[in-house]
Amino acid sequence: MEFLDQFVIPQSLEHIKLLHYLATLVLFIFIPFISIVFGSTLLSLIYKKKAQKTSDSRFANLSNDLISMFTVNKNVGIVLGIIPLFTLTIIYAQLLHTANNSSVTYLFFSALLMIVALILIYTYRYSISFNLIFNSIKDFKAKDAQVKNEIEKLDKVTKKLSVNTGYYGLIILVISIWFYLSGLNLALYPNQTISISLFETLFSLNVLSRLLFFLTFAMGITGGAILFKFFFWEGGIKGIDNEYKIFIKNTAVKTSFYFLSLVPLFLILNLITFPKESLSSSVFVYSGLVILGLFICYNILYSLTKEEKVSSNGLLYFVLVLTMCFSLIKDQLVMNNANNLQSLKLSEKYDALYASLSRETKVVEISGIEVFKVRCAPCHAFDKKIVGPPYNETMKKYEGRINDLVSFILNPKKINPEYPPMPNPGLKLSEAKAVSKYILEEYKK
Ligand code: HEC
Repeated sequence: MEFLDQFVIPQSLEHIKLLHYLATLVLFIFIPFISIVFGSTLLSLIYKKKAQKTSDSRFANLSNDLISMFTVNKNVGIVLGIIPLFTLTIIYAQLLHTANNSSVTYLFFSALLMIVALILIYTYRYSISFNLIFNSIKDFKAKDAQVKNEIEKLDKVTKKLSVNTGYYGLIILVISIWFYLSGLNLALYPNQTISISLFETLFSLNVLSRLLFFLTFAMGITGGAILFKFFFWEGGIKGIDNEYKIFIKNTAVKTSFYFLSLVPLFLILNLITFPKESLSSSVFVYSGLVILGLFICYNILYSLTKEEKVSSNGLLYFVLVLTMCFSLIKDQLVMNNANNLQSLKLSEKYDALYASLSRETKVVEISGIEVFKVRCAPCHAFDKKIVGPPYNETMKKYEGRINDLVSFILNPKKINPEYPPMPNPGLKLSEAKAVSKYILEEYKK
């Protein structure tokens, strides 16, 4: 997305960190909301269909209640659904600046589709109010036969329009989410030189597992939101008859339980399809927290089928939102890890820009041997083991792969079980490059 690149300038390492936090925060707002919009629109359409087939008024009531309750109103849709996605696109444009990556294009496209999807879904929502009005004047004894005819015709048209906008809105919403998730996936390969086709991206295992994770979790959290809104928030909704109440509760508990039980499967599938560089122990910790959260939810849902405890409805929703946040933190960590080198490159550009602005034009040559003496020699020698292994043993595999050595030094991974893990020495990219070059040349002497 080159035109977005014009708006961004290189950032310092501190800013880049801040941008990662900001991206996570934006997602905390966007994902729960959009999940519930997706879930409640889908359920509303399903129950609308059921209502047409039977004369059971509970189906029609639930269908109407769901869509009007959870989409709130169109301003909320703009603030929680559209602005965050554009903000995220701009943040990613900053983070992937000059990385030659199509991630930002996908995110931008996803944001455009989101606008269309939400317009259609809100049309569906408001047209239901029209339907209700028509229904109420239908019973009215219109004196004039022509007026009566006219009203009936309009009633039919709006009903059809209403359902159609709902379906199209839902489909476009899913496509928008699909592109958004593809954008996140592409961001894990900041310097992909071969470009991958649209088809390959959308149908890669990583994107598909993310999509299934999103959709199942969305249904789970929608069930939780229904219980929360009907039975907990401000003491629950008053004045609904008992039969309808039991019907809602059963529907919500079942939906939530069945879909949430699929979530761990897609989470694990997703984890094994991440590129190796993007994984770290904290990614696994947060994934573990997601699974733990889900198990707590299963328990609460089970207890809800047994007893009538109002607070459980609140607790369930709270745990669900928290669990969703853990999964979002995990996703951002993955992005952060995969972009380690990219972030350092950006910050070097920033340093260079800063230096040129403050007229410090002389470039300080970094000496590899100095870095080695100060930062590595306490633990490493070439010919003997100190704390870490001797370079003479470990350097052969890095022959001709200086970039791998640089990325190991910038972000050490556990390698040899006979040694403790190497702590991160906290070098800048230029220092890591210099010391790598020095070690690779020196060990052969
Ligand atoms: C606090 C001690 C410590 C410091 C400081 C340290 N290392 Fe290490 N290093 C280790 C340990 C321990 C290992 C073994 C890690 C393992 O195998 O999991 C290691 C392993 C390595 C390896 C082998 C990686 C491999 O693929 O087998 C390289 C290369 C390396 N260090 C380079 C450096 C460089 C360059 C520096 C200085 C910038 C440095 N280390 C600073 C402790 C240290």
